[in-house]
Amino acid sequence: MKTVAFCGSPRKGGNTELLLTEAVRGVEEGGSSVITFNLNLMNIKACQNCGGCNENGICIFHDDMDQIYSAIRESDRIIIASPIFFFSVSAQVKLMIDRCQSFWCEKYLLEKPVEQGEYGRRGLLLLAGGMKDEMGSMCAEACAKAFFRTVSVSQHEVLSYLDIDEKGAIKSHPTALQEAYDAGRKLVSK
Ligand SMILES: Cc1cc2nc3c(=O)[nH]c(=O)nc-3n(C[C@H](O)[C@H](O)[C@H](O)COP(=O)(O)O)c2cc1C
Repeated sequence: MKTVAFCGSPRKGGNTELLLTEAVRGVEEGGSSVITFNLNLMNIKACQNCGGCNENGICIFHDDMDQIYSAIRESDRIIIASPIFFFSVSAQVKLMIDRCQSFWCEKYLLEKPVEQGEYGRRGLLLLAGGMKDEMGSMCAEACAKAFFRTVSVSQHEVLSYLDIDEKGAIKSHPTALQEAYDAGRKLVSK
């Protein structure tokens, strides 16, 4: 089983990274290989809505998305971990998601959805936000859901932690890191 994980926070050692590390530990201990992409360090151009992928599902740009496209195609499980920025996922995550418009074209225009392997494809969304208001994570969840649907993730779980602002604050949360680990284990159970 292959898992691909995306870290969408620019803050090294921050809450998102801590959550993702635990989820990845659960995934690995559950027997899946994991490839983690630190989106903040990657060269990903923004989608230009040029229509270039409409005909064949192939993006006109060739940058670090090339390795992400391949990893998504080969994946059985996908994890997105993001801080909440202005009520949504971070720009780093959004850049990657928007470039998956080529998968959207494959699925909806060419009617060739990204194939699932023998384990199906499932997802996990991890969110950390500083505000207390539950509304704050709704846009991020909707955005991730649209992405998951586009890349043939048939079901996904969401762990969203609010009122988590200072770097490392998630460590003081009574259950978050254990829940992230458990969610990773569950993600790769058959
Ligand atoms: C540009 C920016 C925008 C933010 N917008 C929100 C927001 O809309 N809602 C929220 O709950 N937290 C918001 N925050 C707070 C972060 O989500 C919070 O600090 C989070 O714990 C950061 O996770 P990290 O340590 O993984 O980077 C924002 C922070 C930044 C830097």
